[in-house]
Amino acid sequence: MKDVSNIMSIVDEAFESFKDHRPLDSTLISLLQDVQNKIGFLPEPALQRVAKHLNVSESRILSVATFYHQFRLEPKGKHVITICQGTACHVGASSEIYDSLMRHLKIDTHEDTSPDGVFTVQQVRCIGACSLAPIIKIDNDIYGKASYKKIPSILARYRRRE
Ligand code: FES
Repeated sequence: MKDVSNIMSIVDEAFESFKDHRPLDSTLISLLQDVQNKIGFLPEPALQRVAKHLNVSESRILSVATFYHQFRLEPKGKHVITICQGTACHVGASSEIYDSLMRHLKIDTHEDTSPDGVFTVQQVRCIGACSLAPIIKIDNDIYGKASYKKIPSILARYRRRE
């Protein structure tokens, strides 16, 4: 993770490119998007700095950051697992695969990242390769015709790289 002074610089730089924009709400969302794109999530020091720049309370910034699903307050894991829940994948039991992933990675309900910070699991609607359903994607690797039975061996490949 970036250190606090680095985070401040990133927010300051982002603010410079949005400071003349109005109204405040659209500026705030664009600013948060820009900061998140650069850091990968929105750490607390970044939210504090945004609040200072916009001269609004930190609780206001936090309420916006938690309202929109696009914003993350925690970092993503080193590997991002995307599981398709579109119709073709759902028919192919993608829910079982998702449950298996969450169980193997010990990710709690309402969380998306393993406790060791190695994996983040996200669900999407159709990756666009329905003929290979059900599909999971890990970083840029696609696993078609996936099954919950294959999950341990697939995860082991990435664990060996750690
Ligand atoms: S529904 Fe999963 S790839 Fe299309």
